[in-house]
Amino acid sequence: MKDFISLHDLTQEEIKGLLTVAIKLKAELKNGKEHPMLKGKSLGMIFTKSSTRTRVSFEVGMTQLGGYPLFLSSDDIQLGRGESIYDTAKVLSRYLDGIMIRTYAHQDVLDLAEYADVPVINALTDLLHPCQVLADLMTAQEYKGKLEGLKLAYIGDGNNMAHSLMYGCAKVGMDCAVATPAAYCCDTEVVENAKEDFKNAGSELIITEDPAKAIADADVVYTDTWVSMGQEKEKEERLKTFMPYQVNKELFAKAKEDAIFMHCLPAYRGFEVTDDVIDGVQSVIFDEAENRLHAQKAVMAMLMA
Ligand code: CP
Ligand code: NVA
Repeated sequence: MKDFISLHDLTQEEIKGLLTVAIKLKAELKNGKEHPMLKGKSLGMIFTKSSTRTRVSFEVGMTQLGGYPLFLSSDDIQLGRGESIYDTAKVLSRYLDGIMIRTYAHQDVLDLAEYADVPVINALTDLLHPCQVLADLMTAQEYKGKLEGLKLAYIGDGNNMAHSLMYGCAKVGMDCAVATPAAYCCDTEVVENAKEDFKNAGSELIITEDPAKAIADADVVYTDTWVSMGQEKEKEERLKTFMPYQVNKELFAKAKEDAIFMHCLPAYRGFEVTDDVIDGVQSVIFDEAENRLHAQKAVMAMLMA
């Protein structure tokens, strides 16, 4: 494992290994045990999109591992003025021990990883958000005591979260049901890749336009914003189409009685989810957000230690 770009690239053992390390690092932190596994190492963090959780959890995580994080806004570095990804990758590799990037085009991350001589971590592209899903799997495991055999229902936009959740569920033997409007379905190539992973794992992938069908018997109910970063101009159109996909009390009641509710955040209450669900007792959103810290520390430790 040189880079962390897509859960589809990882084996089940690698994902389980990362979860084990994440759980261990979390316990150590809670017990006040230091783990300076990346002492003297530096992580560059390139952001061409906004972030609260990702930026803070990577910065704090790197610091807790004894390393040094550098926030690199694309507005401030030459990449944002047209310097090539190739030159950026080569130069940054001379200073840093790892590069984390959040950007629009997934291909830019693949190119960065190809040219960089140090590990590259995908901190969200228009296509995928693997760091989030690693934290989500960790959270589901903490609440349910296992992953294999659970059913996750994702209701909403066929976006980066839907894609990474499909990949993640398949790798750990979970069933996954994705309900999106036809016009906002998942990427065809991702679905084809995921189907193969589900077949290999012996678990099930359901793709539907019907939220009730997807949510039936779900252990984990997941949604995300209907308007992702970069789609602001489509907002009005999207809000109209997505209303039947709102995760409200009525829809949530169709999941298993003890289902947990998850959301990567930021959430838009009253749109993709109602207050009674996201602020209800079955919502685990803040544990999920916290686990970003622990899961990403595991990724950094595995790639950079
Ligand atoms: N979930 C997530 O990635 O949040 P940020 O956009 O705040 O980093
Ligand atoms: N789908 C959202 C996820 C934010 C963490 C977006 O890309 O904006």
